[in-house]
Amino acid sequence: MALNVSNRTLFTGDNLDVMRGINSDSVDLVYADPPFNSNRDYAAPIGSAAAGAAFKDTWTLSDVDIAWIGLIADREPALASIIESAGLAHGKGMQAYLTMMSVRLLELRRILKASGSIYLHCDPTASHYLKLVMDCVFGRDWFRNEIAWKRTSAHSSAKRFAPVHDTLLFYANDQSTWLPQYLPLGESYVARDYRHSDERGRYRVDNLTGSGLRDGKSGEPWGGFDPSSSGRHWGVPSSGAYAQWIEDNLIPGYKSIPGAHERLDALSDAGLVDWTPNGYPRLKRYLAGSRGEAVSDFISDIQNVNNRSKEHVGYPTQKPIALLERIIKASSNEGDVVLDPFCGCATALVAAETLNRQWTGIDLSTLAVKLVLSRLEKAADAGALLQGGKLPDVRHRTDIPKRTDVGELPPYKTHRHTLYGKQEGNCAGCRIHFPFRNLTVDHIIPKSRGGTDHLDNLQLLCNACNSMKGTIDQAAFVAKLKQQGMK
Ligand SMILES: C[S@@+](CC[C@H](N)C(=O)[O-])C[C@H]1O[C@@H](n2cnc3c(N)ncnc32)[C@H](O)[C@@H]1O
Ligand SMILES: [Zn+2]
Repeated sequence: MALNVSNRTLFTGDNLDVMRGINSDSVDLVYADPPFNSNRDYAAPIGSAAAGAAFKDTWTLSDVDIAWIGLIADREPALASIIESAGLAHGKGMQAYLTMMSVRLLELRRILKASGSIYLHCDPTASHYLKLVMDCVFGRDWFRNEIAWKRTSAHSSAKRFAPVHDTLLFYANDQSTWLPQYLPLGESYVARDYRHSDERGRYRVDNLTGSGLRDGKSGEPWGGFDPSSSGRHWGVPSSGAYAQWIEDNLIPGYKSIPGAHERLDALSDAGLVDWTPNGYPRLKRYLAGSRGEAVSDFISDIQNVNNRSKEHVGYPTQKPIALLERIIKASSNEGDVVLDPFCGCATALVAAETLNRQWTGIDLSTLAVKLVLSRLEKAADAGALLQGGKLPDVRHRTDIPKRTDVGELPPYKTHRHTLYGKQEGNCAGCRIHFPFRNLTVDHIIPKSRGGTDHLDNLQLLCNACNSMKGTIDQAAFVAKLKQQGMK
């Protein structure tokens, strides 16, 4: 489904409301860096670009949370058990936090494409509970990595090992975009493994045979060496990254040379075969042909932002651009849609812009929009933007987008009979039985908060309940009824 929000839109508002208005199956990559349940309130220092930014990171279980837990129990019973268990193990604050996160992750699951990927940035307070929630929402088959990002080097802490990392939960599937990332090999690794060198530079030697006997050419002698005599056969690379490097740099057409002996001839002619003193041929693997070290789930080469960093804007919890670039490069193609529902000072959005991806950001704080603009201006000045240094138009919205993927729905009132049957004639608020004419159709999630005219989002209420509910959503309404002892 096409996204119903233009590229480079930044929303100020609660991401739950905004996401409800986004089409299903329309986003390629989500990076979510929510508040952590770390029991502190964040505020940016006065005088910094982000001054005035503050967000709550303490959680108490409100009536609305309790109502949400009820609604989740109805639709996602396993998830409700997880949230409840975390409440028992850790406390009510965690239960409230996970409830807040669960309703948003369920919405993210709906708007993420079937081939999408999601990274949830957590810290150790809640990461293990969030992993259960993620397994439940996206399915355990989607789990790819628990990434440890070493964000600081020293951090003394009383009576325990120094806590220095954040955890990022990465969920995707076999259809998701995956572009492996590489880093240059470390100096000590190069010194230890690439011990030889010639005019082409450093190299290491590698086997040209594989274990097991083979009939035909790949078992026959070449260059005076018979692989069969030691129970082996020729294993001369014809595909893979190194074969490609050979083809691109040393032997044009190398990969299409048909037989093992012919490939050995070509390698030998190009000086790629190294002979051991006892007449055993080996392949020279040059450092120049190495892709480097595949980036792992332990990230220690990206420093956190501090007040001496060039990119520092003073926003509490600002993440480094390099971390976001790595994620975006690995899990999306140019032109793909990146969504950051807790975008803060817009690190993910700036990274997406410089990598030529489409993006949408949401944050409660009104400061985010100013920071996005000033950071993009800076990036444009530094020539980091692909549009020739021109600052792109950013749209700022405070309304809820209107979904365009629900098709032409019949007028919602036509569902009255179906709903009356489904509810067995009882009001969805007070639960009292009413005659058909006394019940009216209500939107569970109001249209002003992203709700649709879909049957799934409709219910019947009596007139008293309807006027009491007004424009709040069902979870808040249930909480209100409870407060008044009506439920
Ligand atoms: C940990 S910070 C994100 C930092 C961001 N990754 C960066 O590099 O700047 C979390 C952000 O979530 C925002 N936030 C919290 N609850 C929200 C909600 N319900 N909807 C939208 N934004 C929310 C806060 O205002 C805060 O900016
Ligand atoms: Zn009622």
